[in-house]
Amino acid sequence: MPIERPRGTNDYGPEEMARRRAVEGILKDVAHRFGFREIATPTIEHLDLFTKKSGPGIIEELYAFKDKSDRDLALRPEFTASIVRFYVAELRNLPKPIKVYSVGNVFRYEEPQKGRYREFTQFNAEIIGAPSLQGDAEVIALAIECLHAVGVKDVRVRVGHIGMLRAFLKLSPEDQGKVLHWLDKRNFPALAQELTRLGLERLESALRQYVELKGGPEVLDKGAKLLQGGGAEGFDYLKALAARLRSYGIEHVTFDLGVVRGLDYYTGMVFEVDSPNLGAEKQVMGGGAYTLAELLGGDPVPQTGFAFGLDRVVLAAEAEGVKLPVPRLDCYVIPIGAPMQAKALEVLVSLRRAGVSADIDLLGRGPSKNLDYANAIRARFAVLAGETELKKGLVAVKDLDSGAQEEMKLDDLIARAKAPQRPKA
Ligand code: HAM
Repeated sequence: MPIERPRGTNDYGPEEMARRRAVEGILKDVAHRFGFREIATPTIEHLDLFTKKSGPGIIEELYAFKDKSDRDLALRPEFTASIVRFYVAELRNLPKPIKVYSVGNVFRYEEPQKGRYREFTQFNAEIIGAPSLQGDAEVIALAIECLHAVGVKDVRVRVGHIGMLRAFLKLSPEDQGKVLHWLDKRNFPALAQELTRLGLERLESALRQYVELKGGPEVLDKGAKLLQGGGAEGFDYLKALAARLRSYGIEHVTFDLGVVRGLDYYTGMVFEVDSPNLGAEKQVMGGGAYTLAELLGGDPVPQTGFAFGLDRVVLAAEAEGVKLPVPRLDCYVIPIGAPMQAKALEVLVSLRRAGVSADIDLLGRGPSKNLDYANAIRARFAVLAGETELKKGLVAVKDLDSGAQEEMKLDDLIARAKAPQRPKA
């Protein structure tokens, strides 16, 4: 019996991997343009790090295990807790604000379906130590610019504020976590049960109406009414945030008071981005302002950030037919006849040394089979190393996109292969 890959994991072939790397490269470029720097943290962490404040949703989904010395460890289900742990231990000595991003795989024991996996890749960005309004606007602007740069257009950005609900609920953090969990899942029977247990049945109708509020600034006033005047600070904050985002050129944000988020550490602005083309798992990104540093033994400091599900951004780009800048092999060298093998290898080596990506027939196939192969791997040029041309100091070059063939000097081929490519329509 062949061994299958574990449920909820993926293998990525060369074409798919190239698209993923292209998206990752774009996200990293944009993060650099915004002044973020890359950091990395381990894939395994002490279990405690995630049980402290990630919330019931994440704890149920952890891949936790004991190592050979009986330590409780877990595969990371996200980056934020690890980054804050790193901040408290070391990064806090860096000048503030600290703007960092990370890319890597994370693990959640979820029910797999299209776009929802047990191992997936996140692109995560955090700002630690900037005043909330400035930090929140910067991370929202970064998230929007990232999608813009990838070329995904059909996206819905929804911004809410969890602090208002927290202030309204006035419960212990544990009970608050449970109520918010059911609200996030829109599991209203479980919500009703929880509220009854807490003697707060009277809040059910207001909460259900509140999480459905979505639209322009008017929903903030409606929300304030439902919360009976509570949470005014949060509503004013969202108005100020929208004004700051306008200065970034972001004209319209949808306020969505139903953004509750599945993680327990959020305390302020929360936001999500959907790609409606993706079906059930349409959320390509989620984030917001949170309080974790104090919990992990650090100083109170504003923290805000987000994570893209890289797999979902790639799916969203594919759904919109975005042409991603996927690298191609420049030259595939074909010796014309067995005696030309050595000369063809010299051509190959010269191309590679000049910084041109080049490959050569390893199977001893004839020219026509080699051309088929060059087309199948989507090489740009087939370089035919024939005796007559080489004697003249030339090679025959076939442009595999246009089909045009011409003889040229190796230096000219190198210049052509290295010239920036115009993206094809
Ligand atoms: P999250 O919403 O749990 O937030 O995950 C962020 C993104 O990861 C989601 O929007 C989604 O695109 C993707 N994602 C989540 N679960 C899966 C899955 N099973 N398969 C594929 N993609 C998935 C966080 O993780 C927070 N740490 C974000 C953050 C950073 N908040 C502040 N800073």
